[in-house]
Amino acid sequence: MNPDKKFYITTPIYYPSDKLHIGHAYCTVATDTMARYKRLTGYDVMFLTGTDEHGQKIEDKAKEAGVSPKEYVDRIVEGPQGVKDLWKLMNISNDRFIRTTDDYHVAAIQKIFKAMYDKGDIYKGKYVGKYCKPCESFWTESQLKDGKCPDCGREVQDAEEEAYFFRLSKYADRIQHLLEDTDFLEPRSRVNEMVNNFIKPGLEDLCVSRTSFKWGIPVDFDPGHVVYVWIDALFNYTTALGFMNDKHNDYDKYWPADVHFIGKEIVRFHSIIWPAMLMSMDMPLPKKVFGHGWLLLDGGKMSKSKGNVVDPYLLAERYGVDALRYFLLREFPFGTDGNFSNEALIGRINTDLANDLGNLVSRTTAMVGKYFGAHLPVTEAADSALDDELLHLAKGLRDVYEEQMEHYAFQNALMEVFKLIGRANKYIDENKPWLLAKDETQKARLAQVLYNLLECVRISAVLLTPFMPDTCEKIFGQIGAGEELRTWDSAGQWGLLPMDAAVNKGENLFPRIDAAKELEELAALEAAAKAAAEPAPEEPKAPEYITIDDFNKVHFVTAKILACEPVKKSKKLLRFTLDCGEGTPRQILSGIHEYYEPEELVGKTVVACTNLAPRKMMGLESNGMLISAVKEEPDGSEKLHLIMLDDKVPAGYGLC
Ligand code: MSP
Repeated sequence: MNPDKKFYITTPIYYPSDKLHIGHAYCTVATDTMARYKRLTGYDVMFLTGTDEHGQKIEDKAKEAGVSPKEYVDRIVEGPQGVKDLWKLMNISNDRFIRTTDDYHVAAIQKIFKAMYDKGDIYKGKYVGKYCKPCESFWTESQLKDGKCPDCGREVQDAEEEAYFFRLSKYADRIQHLLEDTDFLEPRSRVNEMVNNFIKPGLEDLCVSRTSFKWGIPVDFDPGHVVYVWIDALFNYTTALGFMNDKHNDYDKYWPADVHFIGKEIVRFHSIIWPAMLMSMDMPLPKKVFGHGWLLLDGGKMSKSKGNVVDPYLLAERYGVDALRYFLLREFPFGTDGNFSNEALIGRINTDLANDLGNLVSRTTAMVGKYFGAHLPVTEAADSALDDELLHLAKGLRDVYEEQMEHYAFQNALMEVFKLIGRANKYIDENKPWLLAKDETQKARLAQVLYNLLECVRISAVLLTPFMPDTCEKIFGQIGAGEELRTWDSAGQWGLLPMDAAVNKGENLFPRIDAAKELEELAALEAAAKAAAEPAPEEPKAPEYITIDDFNKVHFVTAKILACEPVKKSKKLLRFTLDCGEGTPRQILSGIHEYYEPEELVGKTVVACTNLAPRKMMGLESNGMLISAVKEEPDGSEKLHLIMLDDKVPAGYGLC
């Protein structure tokens, strides 16, 4: 291996918040294929993947599950059918796996945050704006699309808090130059989107700390603040190599990364925020960020909740991992969106893998077995014009394939290989080995034809290895190609397979799928899974009665709202001063600010419970509770109406 040929490639680190679906596997399979290709071509490769484990979303999910955030992420990362398990299933050859909860990463992020603070690139300020909880992103009013999160289209909430900011604005010009004048970001179409939507309207400083939740890396010099998840996440690409830590020591060897493969929705973070932070740290920039498209389901975003058709475990069990890997990279170009459907997957398996590749291998090996007892005779090559086109394609294949792979054009690279496979199948039909076999004088020609086919299979298999490693291993076994005939060098040379190599027809690589039957079975599985997921109808519960004495213990009185104001530093609480007919006003705090503004409530007649034990909230005492009508919606949100009475009803009446 040439020590100068180093290649560092990364996937995004995944949120372990849900079970991963086949769309998540898309990027990791692409990265794995690239890593395997580079290793094949003689590079010393570092392939990094991992998990992004902090943030409010994880904190919320863990709470829902009744476990600590660490227990929650441990289960999803390390547990059965977890993230690591899935990568094993998909035959992912990552060299390293980082978890952002790893101690070395946590300590390194604290040092990085402090270094940017000391430099003056991080400063303390106050954040007022909008927050998208699912994306963990803060937005200004002008960045919203139709009042909603511009990334995911969901509702945003008002947010205000003391926070640290990163001077992103300082780097705007350098970032614009990086995007427009270099090929840092690909595909090119994503450059305009970044420049027009984010840089030209004015790059604002970025809020990089939170106080509203705990599950993050603490800012060690200001307790209460945790580091914004994207700083924590992005620097994983360097801490995993040993930057600012002693756990690893490959930073000097591999950084800067040759390429970050990422999905299109996180291009902004990788092509604007990431290089700006690296500039702030005076670190070299990655050589390239490639923002791939999405694998869609029915034209929309994929999610595990859309059913088990997108479950990689189910798909791998039914079709095999290599068929899945092939489909993901063959079906549509890496830079654009594409649709996933079982029909399309089965179609690819039947046409490309079973009919074309599988058939070529099985016909060729079967004929060598049938006509020559598994060893071709060593004959003098008799050139024939009938071979020209095939040999020309085979001899030039490695170069055209390389050209496509170097541009991350996986689909094109595969199409080039399948051109040769298709041509070889046609060559069989043209040369009709079954007729040659009947003619004793044609034995040498028959051997030559079969040899040419074996060479085509060998060269194709070398180049398909990064995509379908297990299948190619089987093919090499079937055509008797030893290690030295599986190399990159050997794929560029014709005629390396010894004529008398031991060929054996092995198992059928890709059995044809009966599409109609398969789709029926999948539909039945889907229906069964849905039925199993539906909650069993609840047994009607006997009502829990209370006695009249119990009821009388609660004092409900009518109350007039004399004053109402928001409680400082609280998003939800309103402070009410009420006339409950007691001579002196009563103070009650109520968490209904998201439903009402104070001025619309003053003067209204409401119902208060006055003998609830007093309670302190945000340093203020609440003496009772205002009564509201509340309904929980199926999506978990709540609707609330404060019970208001006719204003003719006087204050201080008891309710019975
Ligand atoms: N944690 C962040 C990344 C931080 S990187 C410093 C994140 N995680 S994620 O789990 O939501 O997504 C991981 C990757 O999966 C993203 O690149 C995303 O685009 C990709 N995909 C998720 N669903 C996908 C499809 N349906 N199709 C293709 N890729 C998709 O973002």
